[in-house]
Amino acid sequence: MKILFLALLFVPALATVGVLPAVASEAGYRLDRSPHDPNDLVSLQSGARVFVNYCLNCHGAQFMRFNRLVEIGLSESQIRDNLMFPVEKVGETMKVALGTKDGKEWFGVPPPDLSVIARSRGADWLYTYLRTFYRDPKTVSGWNNAVFANAAMPHALWTLQGERALEVLQVKSPAGHVAAEYRWSQVSPGALNAVQYDAAVRDLVNFLVYVGEPAGQSRKRIGVVVLFVLGVLFVFAYALKKAYWKDIH
Ligand code: HEC
Repeated sequence: MKILFLALLFVPALATVGVLPAVASEAGYRLDRSPHDPNDLVSLQSGARVFVNYCLNCHGAQFMRFNRLVEIGLSESQIRDNLMFPVEKVGETMKVALGTKDGKEWFGVPPPDLSVIARSRGADWLYTYLRTFYRDPKTVSGWNNAVFANAAMPHALWTLQGERALEVLQVKSPAGHVAAEYRWSQVSPGALNAVQYDAAVRDLVNFLVYVGEPAGQSRKRIGVVVLFVLGVLFVFAYALKKAYWKDIH
């Protein structure tokens, strides 16, 4: 009984430290851990470029202003020349070219704003989602996705990844459990090889995480400073307490 209780305590503890495998997605596909690094400015810049070129035609990021991108090391002229349409001003937010009504008409579902997508779905989910599109003649778009079954979104990065096919096999383990086994195959090559493609998606996810909380990095830095200052104050407060109580004890 006691052991069972301890085990119950242990499981959430393990899950929090990340020892247990990543949480399975809706469809049961194992999520890959996103290798993004929020301190890597080059990666954030490349992610911003991918986002503007491949996602912004359908999705907006209405809480992100273009000129805020100076935070990830871009100059205003770089932002203007590389990331924006000539009509836009750098103080504008990342609005989408596509209207909600058209989006609904074309895809059945309007493409959602991606400002806080990394917070609602998580980086691992995004990293896996953007790498697991496959050809499926049964869907309207001709694409399907391993973690988001029947998503209305076509594979926006297919020119980079190429076309892939997915075969799901039901395999019986020696213990008698039936589990799905996923077999990927490349149907046609893309402009990038698998390693380069994973790196491009890592950068894009890095950018989406940044967009979800642009002040995230400074928040963490401030937190560390605050804890340090509190630590120093504690030493003085303790010395003072000792001095006050010296004669009483
Ligand atoms: C051709 C238009 C189009 C393009 C381009 C596009 N998307 Fe989408 N996206 C959609 C639509 C439509 C949906 C809604 C899918 C659904 O709910 O079935 C969607 C859904 C998503 C979702 C899931 C949102 C949720 O429900 O949690 C994510 C994440 C996403 N897109 C990311 C991206 C990224 C990143 C890019 C750029 C690489 C991109 N999309 C490019 C149309 C597009």
